[in-house]
Amino acid sequence: MNRDVERILYSEKQIAEAVKSLGERITRDYAGKIPVLLGILKGSSIFHADLMRAIDLPCEIDFLSAKSYGMGAQSSGKLRILKEPDIDIRNRDVIIVEDILDTAVTLSALLHTLSLKEPASLKTAVFLDKNIGIEKPVKADYKCFDAENEFLVGYGLDYAEKYRNLPYIGILKREIYS
Ligand code: IMP
Ligand code: MG
Repeated sequence: MNRDVERILYSEKQIAEAVKSLGERITRDYAGKIPVLLGILKGSSIFHADLMRAIDLPCEIDFLSAKSYGMGAQSSGKLRILKEPDIDIRNRDVIIVEDILDTAVTLSALLHTLSLKEPASLKTAVFLDKNIGIEKPVKADYKCFDAENEFLVGYGLDYAEKYRNLPYIGILKREIYS
């Protein structure tokens, strides 16, 4: 285990099982369709790569880059779009693929922006849903896990751009970010 990690919240094996069953659910729900899996860079990159291979349907992938966190551990509440998707999503079945829902400010802003492009449908798949029980502006349509209100790293999630390559979800030691 990485020495900056307090403990492992979800192991590689638990992650693989959760992503596989989410892929099977999406496969059933989108039968006969060609969904666009829109990964939100950079945090969802690993989840996006695993999820697309767990979906047994023709699908297209694209990326959107938006920033809300800066380099710290607190959400700024602001969203800046840095890269728009290349695919024209008008009349397409779009699934936004996100790493983690915290306040859900990012996802609600993304849903608003993308709905203006008039997709046939717009759903969200998140790997983790943090701060369960807190009032959020939007809920995820699909999710793999709920999580505690701790700062999490690994499986794409970073702290100041580090730890994305850890193959598990770990709770970062408080002394690293405080
Ligand atoms: P929200 O807008 O508050 O829902 O924040 C969502 C974004 O904040 C995610 O896409 C992540 O990039 C980042 N984020 C929130 N919580 C964590 C965490 O525990 N670890 C790493 N990044 C996080
Ligand atoms: Mg991030």
